[in-house]
Amino acid sequence: MSSNNLSSDTAPDSSPSKPSPATGKLGVLLPGVGAVSSTLIAGVMAARTGGATPVGSLSQLEFLPNPDDHDAVGPAISEACGLAGLDDIVFGGWDPISANALEAAETAGVLDHRDLAPVSGELEGVVTMPAVFDQDWVRNLDPVRIKEVSSKWDAALELIDDIERFRSEKQCDRLVMVWCGSTEVYRPAGDVHATVESFEQGLKDNDPGIAPSQIYAYAAMMTHTPYANGSPNVTCDAGFIEQLSLERNVPICGKDFKTGQTLLKTTIAPALRARMLGVRGWFSTNILGNRDGLVLDDPESFKSKEVSKLGVLHDILGPDQHPDLYGNMDHEVRINYYPPRGDEKEGWDNIDIFGWMGYPMQIKVNFLCRDSILAAPIVLDLALFMDLAARAGESGVQEWLSFYFKAPQPAIGAAPDSHIEHDLFVQRDNLLAKLNAWAK
Ligand SMILES: NC(=O)c1ccc[n+]([C@@H]2O[C@H](COP(=O)([O-])OP(=O)(O)OC[C@H]3O[C@@H](n4cnc5c(N)ncnc54)[C@H](O)[C@@H]3O)[C@@H](O)[C@H]2O)c1
Repeated sequence: MSSNNLSSDTAPDSSPSKPSPATGKLGVLLPGVGAVSSTLIAGVMAARTGGATPVGSLSQLEFLPNPDDHDAVGPAISEACGLAGLDDIVFGGWDPISANALEAAETAGVLDHRDLAPVSGELEGVVTMPAVFDQDWVRNLDPVRIKEVSSKWDAALELIDDIERFRSEKQCDRLVMVWCGSTEVYRPAGDVHATVESFEQGLKDNDPGIAPSQIYAYAAMMTHTPYANGSPNVTCDAGFIEQLSLERNVPICGKDFKTGQTLLKTTIAPALRARMLGVRGWFSTNILGNRDGLVLDDPESFKSKEVSKLGVLHDILGPDQHPDLYGNMDHEVRINYYPPRGDEKEGWDNIDIFGWMGYPMQIKVNFLCRDSILAAPIVLDLALFMDLAARAGESGVQEWLSFYFKAPQPAIGAAPDSHIEHDLFVQRDNLLAKLNAWAK
C-alpha cells in the first residue's frame, strides 16, 4: 500500500543543503525521564554492545530506495545520510520524580531485570536534573525534584544554564531535545504566546498561561537545540516558538508519538478510503496502567490526548469530498487508567463500515501492545533526524517527520484549514524522499 504522492508542502527541496558531517558527540536531552525515556536509553546502551537489535527504528534498520532498481535495496539510511552513531550519543534529562534513568526504568517496569542488569551502571549514570514543574499543568503527580525559582523567567534561565553546562561537561558538539514528559492540561495558545516579546514578558510576569513544556522549548531555541515534542502538549503551536525557530535557525517538530492505536488507524483508514468503503463509526478504547495513564486520568490532560487522537480520520477519509461515505461518521476515543496493566496497554477498535448498497460490516482490532517498546525507537529516530536537519541548516517545522506523530504540526504560515497528511504510507514516502535528497 504505497503511494508516490508527495504533498507539495513536504516535497524535498530540489537543491537541499548537504548536511555538515556528524563529528563528535550528540547530546540527547530528554525533559521527562519516565517509561519511554528509560526504555530508549537502556535499548541504545544494549544495542551498542550488540545486546539488542534496535527493532522499530528506521534510522538503524531501513534502507533508502534504489532509484535504478526497484527490486534491489539502496544504501542503509544511517550510512547514506551520515547520521550520528549510537556510540556518539550522550543522554541527559530532567524529571521531577526519577533521580536517574535506572530508577525510572525500575519504576516503569517495562524492561525485565535481565535486560536492565547489563546496563544498570550506565543507566544509573544518567542522572536527571531537577525539573521545571507546575502542578497546575500536570495534576496527578507528586514531584520531589523541582527547581525552586521565583519566576518563570528564572526557570527559563536555569534551563538554559543546565543545557550549556551539559554541553560543556559532556563535551557535546551538538544537542537535540525530545520532550518525553507528561501530558499537560489542554490550554490552547493565547495572546501571551503570540510573539517572542509577549512570551518573554509573560515569563517575567509569571503568566499562568505559560506551560512548563513551553519554557523547555524556549530554552531549547535560545541554545540552538532542535526540539521535538513527543506528547500531545500544544507547546509549539504558538507564534513565539515558530518565530524563534525561524529567527534562530532551529528545527522543531511534533506532536504526540504515533505508536499503537493511531499507527493502526492510519494504516487501516487509507485502505478503506482506497477501496471507497464507507465508515459510519470508529470507536477506540484503551486501558493502560503506567504513569502516563495516571496523568491522563485527569480529564484536562486527557483532553490534550483526545484532541491529538481525533484529527486523523477526517484528514485521511476526506468527508467533504465524499459525504456519502464519511460525512456521517462518529469517532470516539477513550482511555482508561487501569493499574494492573502497567505499560502493557490494550487497545480495542470497533469500526463500523459499509459496502455495496449500504450493507453494514464490522472490523474489530485488539492490539495488545507495549507503549514504551513502540515509542523508544521513535525517539531515537527523531533525535538523529532532527540532528541531521540542523546540520543541513533547516529551521521551522519539519513536516517530513510527520510519519512519527499522531497530530503532525503544519508548516509555519499554513492556512488553518490546510490538509495535514496522516496516511502512514504517504508520510513514509515523504520521509524517505527527504532523506534521499540528503544522501551522499
Ligand atoms: N508510550 C507511548 O506509546 C506514547 C505515545 C504517544 C505519546 N506519548 C507521550 O510521551 C510522554 C512520555 O510517556 P511515558 O509513558 O514515558 O510517561 P511517564 O509518565 O512514564 O514519563 C513522563 C515523565 O515526565 C515527567 N515529567 C512531568 N512533568 C515534567 C516536567 N515539567 N519536566 C520534566 N519532567 C516532567 C514525569 O515525572 C514522568 O517521569 C507522555 O506525554 C505521553 O503521553 C507516549
